[in-house]
Amino acid sequence: MQIQQHISLRPYTTFGIEAMAENFTAFSTTDELGKAIEIAANRPHIILGGGSNILFTKDVEGFVFRNEIKKIAVVQEDEEHVYVQAGAGENWHSFVEHCIKNGFAGIENLSLIPGTVGASPMQNIGAYGVEIKDVFHSLEAFSTDEKKLYTFSAKDCEFGYRESIFKRRYKNKFVIVSVCYKLSKKPRFHLEYGGLRQQLEAMKIHELSIKAVSEAVIAIRTKKLPDPKKIGNAGSFFKNPVIDGLRYKALKEKYDSMPAFPANDGSNRTKVPAAWLIEQCGWKGFRKGDAGCHREQALVLVNYGRAKGSEILQLANDIIASVKEKFGIMLEKEVNVM
Ligand code: EPU
Repeated sequence: MQIQQHISLRPYTTFGIEAMAENFTAFSTTDELGKAIEIAANRPHIILGGGSNILFTKDVEGFVFRNEIKKIAVVQEDEEHVYVQAGAGENWHSFVEHCIKNGFAGIENLSLIPGTVGASPMQNIGAYGVEIKDVFHSLEAFSTDEKKLYTFSAKDCEFGYRESIFKRRYKNKFVIVSVCYKLSKKPRFHLEYGGLRQQLEAMKIHELSIKAVSEAVIAIRTKKLPDPKKIGNAGSFFKNPVIDGLRYKALKEKYDSMPAFPANDGSNRTKVPAAWLIEQCGWKGFRKGDAGCHREQALVLVNYGRAKGSEILQLANDIIASVKEKFGIMLEKEVNVM
């Protein structure tokens, strides 16, 4: 493990924004992680996974540690389930592919999400009707204060919509080193989310399989979401806002075409697509310099080449202000802005 100085972070994030790390190293074992944290001592440090949910707006003082802990293994099995553990540094989509190849069902709807396995519980990633909390079993995380490993159950993680304890109370306190998913030998398909069933029909899939579902999800994502290898982005930049019944009723009266979904969080609240709100404010396809709002999906902010982090942030703040003005709804950023 070698600590490098003055390293460009551009290749390490999907936004492809220029920012320099004062110190940088990758770690591939928990021991190396422990050593890296010791070296950083009291200086600030951040952990980077696939860099798919982060926007750097300035250079990073202190240390950047990139999680490259690998290995996928079945750690337990019963009649119905397989418990598959993966190192936090494994690429998420490669992990999904591995599971599909071996007939382990449950994460096929989460195909092609950029980032690493370690980031998946961090913000309870979700797509097309499935969230990782539905199939999560446990994770191991290294306490940076106590320098030891802890095991977290699903309950310990306090999962919510794009939320977990690691984004809130335990922010910067733990480094996730591995995650164990409880997957099924017999699939239970989730095809209700908009567009998925139609996509399967369009692909003329006669026999449903986890592979077919994965292919349909990949086709939808490829159509709507920009490929970070071609156009820098971090997926949805904002969360879909959840509003109470009264506000929803008032807005629906004014904007009849406003789409909405039940929040599914045990409340009577409603989730409104942020993409729709943003599009209504006229931002879809907007571009200033190299910072823009994606043409096919208004929730995704993009870097067309050389945008600065501060320019993307300015655009995000302008969007927040205009949505607030028009709809009285305050959008919350999903991406981690540093
Ligand atoms: N819509 C618009 N304009 C647009 C795009 C969408 O009005 O430009 C409206 C449409 O009514 C559409 C609705 O928004 O029916 C929902 O759009 P979509 O299905 O594309 O999903 P989303 O709510 O915008 C969420 C996740 C995505 C995930 C998709 C599919 C969040 C913040 N985002 O987006 O996750 O892939 O659902 O499940 O919850 C991510 O988190 O980075 C991410 C990409």
